[in-house]
Amino acid sequence: MKITRFASAIGTLGLFSVLTTAHAGVIEDRKANFKANNASMRAIGAAIGSGDFATVKSEAEKIAAWAMVMPDYFPEGSGGAGTSARPEIWSDFVGFKDAAEANYYAAEALINAAAKQDGDAAREALQAIGASCKACHQKYKSW
Ligand code: HEC
Repeated sequence: MKITRFASAIGTLGLFSVLTTAHAGVIEDRKANFKANNASMRAIGAAIGSGDFATVKSEAEKIAAWAMVMPDYFPEGSGGAGTSARPEIWSDFVGFKDAAEANYYAAEALINAAAKQDGDAAREALQAIGASCKACHQKYKSW
């Protein structure tokens, strides 16, 4: 089920490939979403510390939701100046989608840990999310 949902979200990518205008908007949008990712990661770290699992869950849900649509925000031709997106995103788009999917499943593991109010599992899942952010950046982000 989860995989189907993910696949249908990224299936809309074809639409973006024919829209050659407005890449500036999509670049701004994706940067804003990544900044929100950072804020979520910080909020989750603090919330695990204080046992606030409702916040852990809601922030993890934001990360999962963004991960699911992330590839849609990288239409072909939206690299170059003003973005740190590397050309490898488009030469290896399947790998890029896999990296977004790994991020999604890591966030889902955290949602589950939060639902069980399991602090140790939540800490582990948070680390796994961080690793999935970093893995993608190392391959597909220039700085
Ligand atoms: C599937 C790949 C991928 C994943 C997963 C990913 N990122 Fe990124 N991230 C990128 C790319 C590519 C850029 C560059 C976007 C651009 O400049 O257009 C970026 C940019 C950023 C930026 C800079 C935004 C700006 O203002 O320029 C931050 C911060 C960031 N990511 C944080 C995160 C965090 C935190 C996570 C995990 C919760 C994460 N990212 C997961 C690919 C990814």
